[in-house]
Amino acid sequence: MTEARPLVAGNWKMNGRREDGLALAHAILAGAREVRAELLLCPPATLIALVGEAIRGSTIGLGAQDCHPAPSGAHTGDIAAPMLADLGCRYVIVGHSERRAEHGEADALVKAKAEGALAAGLNPIVCLGESEAERDRGEALSVVARQLAGSLPAGASGARVVIAYEPVWAIGTGRIPKPGDIEAVHGLLRRELARHFADANAFRLLYGGSVKPSNCPEILGLDNVDGALIGGASLKAEDFLAIAKAAS
Ligand code: PGA
Repeated sequence: MTEARPLVAGNWKMNGRREDGLALAHAILAGAREVRAELLLCPPATLIALVGEAIRGSTIGLGAQDCHPAPSGAHTGDIAAPMLADLGCRYVIVGHSERRAEHGEADALVKAKAEGALAAGLNPIVCLGESEAERDRGEALSVVARQLAGSLPAGASGARVVIAYEPVWAIGTGRIPKPGDIEAVHGLLRRELARHFADANAFRLLYGGSVKPSNCPEILGLDNVDGALIGGASLKAEDFLAIAKAAS
């Protein structure tokens, strides 16, 4: 476990209209005072400005779910990291497995996006994780090590980069790895970081994939788990706050 404050991030994915996004942000804001962990909301791009207004001046951070590697240019439909910073974002998720799978994003692009984020003053949350077939073949650790090596941005530091281990087969399925398997991956990530960074212990290593109030006390208590990236359960303020309190 790092000395840093745990981070609990809600990835709203492609969910929410203005009215329910605002209601969710207000409900989370109302309970945030009792939380010691750092809280982060990553709404869809359409709601970033609105949610940012709602949480402005609070301790809750604002993040995005993706960015383009370039700071501007002819990239129809994309959003650049400096635009996200301009909206008040502090973080951006890069390399989520849904983007890797649905948009063919490979490690080199994820790394470029993370570098674009750093250049814009944002902290990238770099996502990694093996597929079920890879785990069944006994390749989980080697896949994650390869993704880490390929996706970590140049100029990374523990203060600026967050790593999220999200086994693809655990996302949205209600299935989670055995505690020992989570610790094995997070331990590997810490050791790999230690080979390159003097401040390896300062990197926050999040677990993501079917985290909910009932399983979070155990997951968040595991070695080298410094917070969580929450999908489905982040859409219910009560559940998100319950998880955040367990991380405190
Ligand atoms: P989940 O998603 O909590 O719904 O499993 C996690 C994620 O994809 O970040």
